[in-house]
Amino acid sequence: MTINTMQRASEAASDETLSFKEATRARRSIRGFLDTPVPDTVIREVLEDAQYAPSNCNTQPWNTHVVSGEKLKELSRILHAKNDDGAFTPDFSFDQNDFYGDYRLRNDALGKAYYEAMNVMRADKEGRRRVGGMNYSFFNAPHVALLFMPSFGDNVRVAGDMGMYGQTLLLSLSARGLGGIPQTSLGFFAEPIREFLGVPNDLKLLFGISFGYPDDSAPGNRIFMDRVPVDTSVTFHG
Ligand SMILES: Cc1cc2nc3c(=O)[nH]c(=O)nc-3n(C[C@H](O)[C@H](O)[C@H](O)COP(=O)(O)O)c2cc1C
Repeated sequence: MTINTMQRASEAASDETLSFKEATRARRSIRGFLDTPVPDTVIREVLEDAQYAPSNCNTQPWNTHVVSGEKLKELSRILHAKNDDGAFTPDFSFDQNDFYGDYRLRNDALGKAYYEAMNVMRADKEGRRRVGGMNYSFFNAPHVALLFMPSFGDNVRVAGDMGMYGQTLLLSLSARGLGGIPQTSLGFFAEPIREFLGVPNDLKLLFGISFGYPDDSAPGNRIFMDRVPVDTSVTFHG
């Protein structure tokens, strides 16, 4: 089914959500969720919002798998086992050592805020491993959306499209008082996830988004990352 413009206008009018500015400012990465499942109708609305993301040449390359309930628990067990074994099978490379200068400093600031919130000392390797492992319990979220993509050329353009899709989805969650967290760490286990969900090999796993109702009392939700000023990121000409 296609979603036409009329439908788009009526949905916009009927939705009771935050304003764009409120939703954008309210969004942050949620690392602690309540067990309460999100109603199917709401999940579908969020996914319909995400469909409006732009894409290179209108390819709409996102192939999303939403996993919930017992199936999610099973997937969590598989991911914890693979993580414990260090059996990484990412479709795309990822190395934090690539970050340099201010980018590295911003990454360090996240690490500091993250481990402080979780009450883990930097030298505590086991504590850091445990906290990192929370990614594979989906931070207790009742749902995860796994974002697969076809591979075109060097994949950079497709990944850009996927990012736009992911952010639209995250903002839609935020506008409804829900929360989500994008997780590259789920992409580290692309092969077992594909096998578990029956996804063909030509679809690559870029990242996942765990989502649900934020647990305001969770330590992982005490992390607030600042942004650098606009003039640090933007150069105006003319
Ligand atoms: C594509 C992508 C992947 C990410 N992967 C992870 C992850 O695996 N685990 C995690 O805890 N946070 C992950 N994050 C969240 C970032 O750490 C977070 O967006 C950043 O620190 C800014 O904080 P904010 O989202 O709360 O504004 C990811 C973010 C993006 C955009």
